[in-house]
This record gives sequence, structure tokens and C-alpha cells, in this order.
Amino acid sequence: MNDLTFNGHIDFRSQQYENQKDSFGMRTMEINPTELCNRTCSFCPRGDWYPNKNVHLNTENARLIKRRLDEFDYQGIVILSGKGEPMLNPNINEIVSILSDRWLELITNGDRILKKPSLLDNLFENGLSRIIIDEYDNLENYNKKIEILGDRNGAIKNHFSKHHNYNNRSGSFETIEGSLNRKCYLPFYKGYIDLTMDMRFCCNDWKYKESLGNIKDSTIEELWMSSKMNSYRKDLSVGNRCNIISCKKCDADGMLLGEDSFNTLMEVI
Ligand SMILES: C[S@@+](CC[C@H](N)C(=O)[O-])C[C@H]1O[C@@H](n2cnc3c(N)ncnc32)[C@H](O)[C@@H]1O
Ligand code: SF4
Ligand code: SF4
Repeated sequence: MNDLTFNGHIDFRSQQYENQKDSFGMRTMEINPTELCNRTCSFCPRGDWYPNKNVHLNTENARLIKRRLDEFDYQGIVILSGKGEPMLNPNINEIVSILSDRWLELITNGDRILKKPSLLDNLFENGLSRIIIDEYDNLENYNKKIEILGDRNGAIKNHFSKHHNYNNRSGSFETIEGSLNRKCYLPFYKGYIDLTMDMRFCCNDWKYKESLGNIKDSTIEELWMSSKMNSYRKDLSVGNRCNIISCKKCDADGMLLGEDSFNTLMEVI
């Protein structure tokens, strides 16, 4: 799949989600590889207030993540994306190699790859399973990226002429007045590990960065199934976003994926 519209992306993720085994509902684990970005996109908190910092995930912590995922017997997919531009992490190839024994994807704005296409080969040689390259600017770059990607496993996401379902990242942009009275499945199927090794409550929580605890001190199972996380889940299961600071002003759809995980976890929490 080379060309990716928003609907194409959701269709792909739905199929991928349905074919995944889960560990306590979790089918996706996102990892933040860097706090540095070379862009300030208008639809991203980085276009407004989010700080740009030259700090990166190191290989020692990537090994810790791998150990914790192994111990969790994690069967789902791992995504290197986060809150910056993953290709700016100087250790990205080694990190890919460390995490490559399960399905591993990377999401990038593709700026570095456009300048140096051989970077793509390095990622796949180190064990990357699939790449998503975003194109934010124009058709010319989009076509170049399609050509560079060739028949490798990945897709180019067209953002310049097609609709993508942006959300306000836990109220980073005050686009809604009150709280939405709507369920959200994100914390039922998706985990998030930050640079600090804190496991975050939600990948969309750019504003409050609510921590469940740190994987240096606790296992993924302990944090994912903690009473704090389960109490948030109970609120989200009945649409009570207003009870959770990170969700109060969040306008994310939240029900596009994850229903099976929701049903699994609601039976045990
Ligand atoms: C935050 S970026 C990090 C990776 C890389 N910097 C990039 O832009 O591809 C991860 C993904 O989030 C998407 N994204 C950016 N702002 C968003 C928003 N407000 N809501 C939902 N997704 C967003 C991007 O298009 C990208 O596919
Ligand atoms: S969307 Fe990606 S490229 Fe754009 S500012 Fe955010 S992190 Fe950077
Ligand atoms: S409402 Fe928003 S911040 Fe809260 S769990 Fe859902 S996506 Fe995350």
C-alpha cells in the first residue's frame, strides 16, 4: 500500500488491530524516540506551545523497553512515533534493531529521507517492519516519496489534499467549549512509553502527560492494570471525560478502534 488517505489508514489499522493478539487488551505500544522536531506544523502542539528539546531515547532505555515487553509477553505492534521526528534520533538504527523482534513501525515526516534516501535502507536492514511517511506540503514531494519508498513495506500519507482526523491533543488547542460526553477506547488498546521511561495514560495527552509510573521501577502489566488506569477506564467507558484532566477538553473520536480490547478489559476491571 503506497497511497494513504485517512479512511485508508483507518481501514488498514482496523484490519491490523483485528489480526493482533492482545496482552490485557493492549495491541499497540507507541514509543517516543525524541523530543526534537524539525517542523512546527499548525495542527500539532509544536505549531503553538510545545517545546523543542534536543533529547533522545538512548539504546540502554530501548533495551529496557524490550525487556519489559518480553516480560509482558507482548504480542501486539510497536510504533516509533511520539512527539518529535524519529529520524532526528542519532541512535534510530540501533533502536530499530533492538526492538525488531516484533512487528515494528516508524512514522516520520520524511524530510531526512527525502534528502538521503539510503536512510530508508538502513532502517529496513535493521529490522523495521513497516514505515509511514507523512507528506504535509505538496504533490511533488509526495511523488518523490512514493518513488523512494518503492516496493518496501510502507505508505505515504497525503495530508496536503486529503482529510486527516486531527484531534486537539487533550485540549492543547481549545477547540471545544465543554467536555465531550463520549466513550474513548484509547487506554484500552494502546500503551505509550515516553523518553523518561514513564508510561503515559494516553498517546494524545500532549498537554498534561499524565504518568502511570515508570518502567524502571514497575512492570508494564503493573502500570497498564493499575488501579489509577482502571479508574480512568471506568470513567471513559461511560463517557465521563469530564472526570479526567487529560480528557476534559479532548475532542479525539476515541472509538475508531479498540472495541474488542474494551470488552475484554471491562470484564476484569
Ligand atoms: C506527532 S507525529 C510524529 C512523527 C513525525 N514527526 C510525523 O509528523 O510524521 C505522529 C503522527 O501524528 C499525526 N498528527 C499530528 N498532529 C496531529 C493531531 N493534532 N491529531 C492527530 N494526529 C496528528 C502526524 O500526522 C503523524 O502521522
Ligand atoms: S506533526 Fe510531526 S513533523 Fe509536524 S510538528 Fe508535529 S512532530 Fe513535528
Ligand atoms: S479522551 Fe483524549 S486524552 Fe482521554 S483517553 Fe481519549 S484520546 Fe486520550
